This record gives sequence, structure tokens and C-alpha cells, in this order.
Amino acid sequence: MIELKNVCYIYGENTVMEVGALKNVNLKIGDGQFIGLIGHTGSGKSTLIQHLNGLIRATSGEIYFNGQNIYAEGYKMRDLRSKVGLVFQYPEHQLFEVDVFSDVCFGPKNQGLPEDEVKQRAREAMELVGLDESYDSKSPFELSGGQKRRVAIAGVLAMKPEVLILDEPTAGLDPKGRDEILDQISKLKQERNITVILVSHSMEDVAKYVDRIIVMNHGEVLFDDTPGKVFHHYRELEKVGLAAPQVTYITHALMEKGFPIKAEAITVEEAKQEILKALQETNEKIPNN
Ligand SMILES: Nc1ncnc2c1ncn2[C@@H]1O[C@H](COP(=O)(O)OP(=O)(O)OP(=O)(O)O)[C@@H](O)[C@H]1O
Ligand SMILES: [Mg+2]
Repeated sequence: MIELKNVCYIYGENTVMEVGALKNVNLKIGDGQFIGLIGHTGSGKSTLIQHLNGLIRATSGEIYFNGQNIYAEGYKMRDLRSKVGLVFQYPEHQLFEVDVFSDVCFGPKNQGLPEDEVKQRAREAMELVGLDESYDSKSPFELSGGQKRRVAIAGVLAMKPEVLILDEPTAGLDPKGRDEILDQISKLKQERNITVILVSHSMEDVAKYVDRIIVMNHGEVLFDDTPGKVFHHYRELEKVGLAAPQVTYITHALMEKGFPIKAEAITVEEAKQEILKALQETNEKIPNN
């Protein structure tokens, strides 16, 4: 469990460049949750998640990890970093070894694990993200954007974090690459039963995976609820530069036209079921049909 209490963060405090990036953020993130953190560019998503593993220290406020204040004297930030794994927005910032396998080994090696276990974890993590042995000796820099991202994710997974945070894991990928990565993350979440926080610009991308959506706007939490409930606010979301999934617009339009449908559908499949159910109910009410 991670808890944020009145967290504020100011870049360049007391300078002319001062930017209030987080304003009084209060959140509780329970174990095993699958969370989408959404917001337009500059809303504070990357700043927020870097607080969760101690990379950025809040200007004011408190953060608790499993009940312990991470800013308390003597708190082991190093342990926090291996428990809360962060995959950066730009994988280039995370990859630096000469070859892929060494890169994936870096985290567990740094945790002080024996060599055998380091290698075993690296192999396992690469398998989880769909990279076979043929990648071992490649330079991380000669890979495609999607492959680099997989290496960066494997590097964090090899540390077996309790919480996995991915900052825009699908940026720059084509729809197929995007679906592959998200499906893999979702599978991983189920297999390892970890907490996952997925940062994204796009509601559409995360809607079918996550069970909670936190919407950020100008450094503040605007909405925090299940996807269906958050999408009810689709008009407010548009005002802050976001859009609900397309099916949300369709279900709402049908509802406004008097079609007896529940507007909670967030995926095309759910919308289909809702529409079929409503049609069936309507037919049953009409005699001789
Ligand atoms: N290193 C920095 N120095 C100064 N200001 C910064 C720095 N990093 C971010 N900011 C500012 O802090 C605010 C929040 O930025 P942040 O990167 O957290 O947003 P974001 O939601 O992750 O955006 P994006 O979707 O573009 O990645 C923005 O106003 C941004 O300009
Ligand atoms: Mg960002």
C-alpha cells in the first residue's frame, strides 16, 4: 500500500523558473490494483510517479510505503527503489549497458543477488516481455522503439518489484505494438499479482485493462474512480484536453435518444452486450413479436 498525503512538488523553487507541478495530491494505492494514471501533457504524471520510488522528494507532504514514512530518518530508499519499479517515459534514459542481457541483469545485480539468480531472473524477465535469447548480445541502442521498451520493462521486472510503474509504455508504438505490450503487462499483472500503474494520455488505451483511473489536471487529481464512472464525466474530460473512449460517446448518444441502455460500457464488446440486452428487453415488452 502506498499513501500520499498532501504531496506538493515545485520545480525550481524560489527561482524565476518556479513551476508548481503537484498540488496537494492525496492518494491511496492498494496492493494488487491496476491503475491508469491519465492527464494531458504537463499535468504532472511523470512528476507524481517519480515520487513513488523516491527519485523526486516532495517539496511538502508525506508518502508512506507499507505504512512507513519514506522521508523518515533512516528509511532505506534503496529498498524502496527495488520494491517500486519504474519504467521511464523514454527507455533511452534507462538503457546503458553494452548488450541487452547485461542491461536486464543490472537491477538484480545491484540488489546484491548471487550471479546464478541474477541470470535466472534476467532470462525469466526477458521471456515475460517476449524477448528470446537471440537478443542477449544485441546493443540496446540498435533496437526498435518497441524492443527498447521491452528491454527497459524486463530490466525492472528482473528486480521482482511489488509495484510496477510504466510511464507511457505505448508512446511511439503502432497499434499492434501497443496492444502487444499492454496485453503482456496485463498478463504479467495476473501472473505475479503485483500492483501496476500505467501512465497514459489515452483513456481508450487503458480503459479495458485497468480497474481504477486517476485523472490529473494541472498537478491536481481531477477524478479518481472506476473507468465507467470516470467516463461519465466525458464532457469535463474534454475540457481538460482528454476524451473518453469512442464507445462511451455512442452509449451516451443512444441513452439521450431514449434507448434503454446502461452507459457503463467502456469497451466495444461491453457496449455490444449492453445494446443486445436492451434490444432483447424492448422486444419482450412488445406483444406479438
Ligand atoms: N525538470 C523539470 N524542470 C522544470 N519543470 C519541469 C521539469 N519536469 C517537468 N516540469 C514541469 O512540471 C509540470 C509537470 O510535468 P510532468 O513531466 O510531470 O507532466 P506529464 O503529465 O508527465 O507530461 P507528459 O504527458 O508530457 O509526459 C509541467 O509544467 C512541466 O513543464
Ligand atoms: Mg510524462
